[in-house]
Amino acid sequence: MTASRQLTPPPGPFAATVDLPGDKSLSHRALIFSAMAEGESHITGLGTGADIVSTAKVLGGLGVEYAAEGDAVAVSSKGVRGWIEPNGFLDCGNSGTTMRLMTGALAAQPFATTLIGDESLSLRPMLRLAAPLAALGAQLTTTAAGTAPVTVQPASELHGATVVLDTGSAQLRSAFELAAIQATGPSAISSPPGFRDHTERWLETVGLGERHDDTFAVHPGRVPATTYDLPGDTSSAAFLWAAAAILPGSEVTTPNISLNAGRIGFLEVLDRMGAEVEASVDRAILGDPVGTVRVRGKSLHAIDISGALSIASLDELPLVAIVASFADGLTSVRDAAELRAKESDRIASTCDMVRRLGGGAEPAADGFQIVGLGWLDGGEVETYGDHRIAMAAGVAATASREVVSIVGAEAAAVSWPDFYDTLEAVWSSR
Ligand code: S3P
Repeated sequence: MTASRQLTPPPGPFAATVDLPGDKSLSHRALIFSAMAEGESHITGLGTGADIVSTAKVLGGLGVEYAAEGDAVAVSSKGVRGWIEPNGFLDCGNSGTTMRLMTGALAAQPFATTLIGDESLSLRPMLRLAAPLAALGAQLTTTAAGTAPVTVQPASELHGATVVLDTGSAQLRSAFELAAIQATGPSAISSPPGFRDHTERWLETVGLGERHDDTFAVHPGRVPATTYDLPGDTSSAAFLWAAAAILPGSEVTTPNISLNAGRIGFLEVLDRMGAEVEASVDRAILGDPVGTVRVRGKSLHAIDISGALSIASLDELPLVAIVASFADGLTSVRDAAELRAKESDRIASTCDMVRRLGGGAEPAADGFQIVGLGWLDGGEVETYGDHRIAMAAGVAATASREVVSIVGAEAAAVSWPDFYDTLEAVWSSR
């Protein structure tokens, strides 16, 4: 069912401190690591979005069990070598992270598994997993178009391999690493920089690898059962930072969020555009930094974004288009062709969003240009079923001249079911 949501903020700047629901990237990893470990692991701060439910259900199909313990979840598993052959397909829903990471985690099983997804996920490229996993001795089949359903064929044994990727994709690196820890010998993987290296920091902390610049050396071994105290979601926090950034005088503070360098490219973007940004690290979870971010809105100017910064702000680039519309000058985003392979073709859907809101956007093969008028009119945005487009349009409402209507607003639930209510509460806080 398609739901439409109209957003009109109260006038004036706001000041809010917001605790975010658990980080999506880390929640997938905490569930998968717990399921690969033998014994009972405990997770607090698990994400609340539909994508996390997809990962939990896929693992449930392999025999992993869950029990709620107050605000924690206990995950019991016989370990990756004790996973049972699923009774049917493993449904990853809308979640590319679930499909890609699980393909790697399943690569050494003695039985075949088939991963399926919804309409959007079934259009996304999966063939790119085949070559890195084949180097380890694993075999995948996809449709002729290289898309899901993905069948991971039975494997008798995986061997170590050295692989070089041409994109800095955290999902691809993680898929390879989750397979490579199950191989008979050591492996290594390299790629261009900018990716979120959560998996690698966690594996390094438990003795299953070492980071050397953009190369990760994998040491085969078993993931231990442990406790995960997950921080809030940086990619969700980004929507609130953007809301503050486009309304001068506003301020948002987000404590306890992941500050992994591959997640906070958007903070560098905001800083370079002229917003006031403060970030401080308070703790680490398995070697991965966690801390507090405060963003204050100031007048903004255009910048050029490319290279590693495009990768480190990839999920936030629809949001960059909104912020850039409120800045002065022409912002350009390059080296972001990967946007075409997300939950929607995000180059097309981002430019469509900006134009429908009365702004200026021009798509390019590997990014887009945004005309910074200093304002957006408002209007009706189509989400194309993409949660980040839905939420970026919601942010635009913060400072648009007229109402913003979001058609397909329910898409936000994939990562942040309470997004609209939280945004409205932030607008009303003084
Ligand atoms: C993710 C990695 C990123 C990101 C996605 C989540 C992850 O994709 O866009 O939303 O949790 O590993 P890439 O594989 O393109 O880096």
